[in-house]
Amino acid sequence: MVSKITKSRSGLYDQEHGMIIAPSVLSADFSRLGEEIAAVEKAGADWIHVDVMDGQFVPNLTIGAPVVRCIRPITKLPLDCHLMVVNPERFIDDFINAGADIITIHQEACKNPEQVLREIQSKNVKAGVSIRPQTSIEAIKSVLSFVDVVLIMSVNPGFGGQEFMADVLEKVAALKDAKTRLNYKFIIEIDGGISTKTIVAAKKSGCEAFVAGSAIFKKENYAEAIRSLRETALK
Ligand code: DX5
Ligand code: ZN
Repeated sequence: MVSKITKSRSGLYDQEHGMIIAPSVLSADFSRLGEEIAAVEKAGADWIHVDVMDGQFVPNLTIGAPVVRCIRPITKLPLDCHLMVVNPERFIDDFINAGADIITIHQEACKNPEQVLREIQSKNVKAGVSIRPQTSIEAIKSVLSFVDVVLIMSVNPGFGGQEFMADVLEKVAALKDAKTRLNYKFIIEIDGGISTKTIVAAKKSGCEAFVAGSAIFKKENYAEAIRSLRETALK
């Protein structure tokens, strides 16, 4: 089943499914990355989440724009690129040219996040802002009126397979409240430790897009894994 991405104010919200499931390829088998992406697309994924780490902002190294370029032609799904990189403005053009649909930068990683986010949008790519579990939403207040995605980290960024930090849901609820009151367009995305055990509380707090690495790629049957995340959350 290929997800239908219906247009909303953000242009990326899949109303057909009522929520967005974004498998994180960090937990995929990189020796078969193309097959893994095709498999989660067939299994009902809505976005493909690509974790980019520089070994500086986070204590781990992963992949960059050349890999995004290679996977671009093999999937119709939006490529949701999460840049855990110091001074991400250095790489924005590379990711855009490689075919990224959403570029999310960390508020903590750049001097002028507003400028970087506006630059991404000026090139017709969706712009997301992310914060670590310890960062308050005060820090991103000035960009909420125009960003496309707010990515709340529910683990310390750097690795898959960590335990969900439920405390961050207070920030999600406050964001959801601001979004409703002020008619903002951003999608609230959550990343880290999402499973059938944690997705219910995340959905209740107001999350709309759910990144899941281990809860999908470490399972035998991806369609079953995605279906049970969705069904549990929508129950
Ligand atoms: C962590 C990454 C996450 C990670 C999620 O820094 O941003 O996207 O892959 O993996 P799980 O779902 O296993 O916590
Ligand atoms: Zn991520």
